[in-house]
Amino acid sequence: MNIAVLVSGRGSNLQAMIDSIENGYLKARICAVVSDIGDAYALERARKHGIEAVFIDPEKYSSKDMYEKQVLTVLKKQNAELIILAGYMKILGKTLLQSYKDRILNIHPALLPAFAGLHAQKQAFDHGVKVAGCTVHFVDEKLDGGAIIMQRCVEVKEDDTDETLADRILEQEHKIYPEAVKLFVENRLRIEGRKVKILRS
Ligand code: GRF
Repeated sequence: MNIAVLVSGRGSNLQAMIDSIENGYLKARICAVVSDIGDAYALERARKHGIEAVFIDPEKYSSKDMYEKQVLTVLKKQNAELIILAGYMKILGKTLLQSYKDRILNIHPALLPAFAGLHAQKQAFDHGVKVAGCTVHFVDEKLDGGAIIMQRCVEVKEDDTDETLADRILEQEHKIYPEAVKLFVENRLRIEGRKVKILRS
């Protein structure tokens, strides 16, 4: 399966996906990495692995729709069948959502539906939660609101800061994102309303 990865930053989740493919765990191919930020380190990671890495500058497009049409052109050219968001900071518009309905995944660094939006780990930490974690979900028009595929918990320790907590959550992100993508690639996910059924292999 051809996967396109949308990024905006350091790309550690992209790296986890690349590693999972290279070590044979995930039978898929990353056909393009698209960034809305020119100097995103994720682009460099992609290039190091011979993956098509494209910066599409939002400033050159008059609307989200025009921007996403350009993204779509790249994805179609590379025959992308699945989009995964890996630290992509833009909210998706209808162009991408409609073209890839139920074929877009995201990872969020909190146990949704708690702490959607930005700085989720700090939101959770400041709230005083005892258990934090991360969520892989389908993407729909609601912010961090699509059907949940997989979640993993992380215990909050007495001496944690929001940063040490975020680091431990990130370690789990790097595990569950490839696991969830593998389920999608193996056609084992069924969306039933808010629920995602996982079929046995
Ligand atoms: C991760 O914490 C992810 O959960 C969130 O954005 C961050 C991206 O990090 N959506 P990276 O670019 O994958 O290192």
